[in-house]
Amino acid sequence: MSESSERELPGDLPREAVIRRMIRVDHAGEYGARRIYEGQLAVLGRRQDADPIRHMAAQEKRHLDAFDKLVGERRVRPTALHPLWHVAGYALGAATALLGREAAMACTVAVEEVIDEHYQKQAAALGGTDPELSGMIETFRAEEIEHRDIGLAEGAERAPAYAALKGAIKAGSRLAIWLAERL
Ligand SMILES: [Fe+2]
Ligand SMILES: [Fe+2]
Repeated sequence: MSESSERELPGDLPREAVIRRMIRVDHAGEYGARRIYEGQLAVLGRRQDADPIRHMAAQEKRHLDAFDKLVGERRVRPTALHPLWHVAGYALGAATALLGREAAMACTVAVEEVIDEHYQKQAAALGGTDPELSGMIETFRAEEIEHRDIGLAEGAERAPAYAALKGAIKAGSRLAIWLAERL
C-alpha cells in the first residue's frame, strides 16, 4: 500500500504508534511466557522428564532477549504492568505444575495457541512494513507452535478437566494481551 492510498480513519493511531504498541505487548507476552516456564520448572525442574520444559524455557529466553533489545533500540515504553506479569506468569506456571505435569502441558497448549493467533494477526497487520519485527514474529511463532505440539505430545489432553483448564487459561491470556496493549 502506498503512502497516499493509506487512509487514516479518525481515532486510528499513526503507524509508528501501532508498531510500538505491538512491540510493547510482545515484550510483555514473552516476559510472561518466560515466567510461566520458570514457575513450571520450580515445581517440576528436578524430575527426569523436565527436559522438554527446559527446552521451551530456553527458547522463551531468546524471544524475551530479542524483544528486550528491540524495546531499547526503538525506545518503546515497556508495559506498566511488568510487576503483574512477573507474579501472574510465575503463579500460572507453578499452579498448573502443582496440578501435575500434564496440567502444566495443558497450560502450555492454551498459552501457545493464543500467542500463535496473536502473532498471526500481527504479521498480517504489518504486511511488509517492518521486516525486522515481522521476521522476529514469524520465527518466534514457529517456535510457539512447536511448544504447543510438545505440550500435546507430552500428554496435555490427559490433564484433569482439560477443556475447562485450557479454556480458562486461554481467556486469561487474551485478557493479558488486551491489558498489555493498553497499559
Ligand atoms: Fe515466546
Ligand atoms: Fe512459547
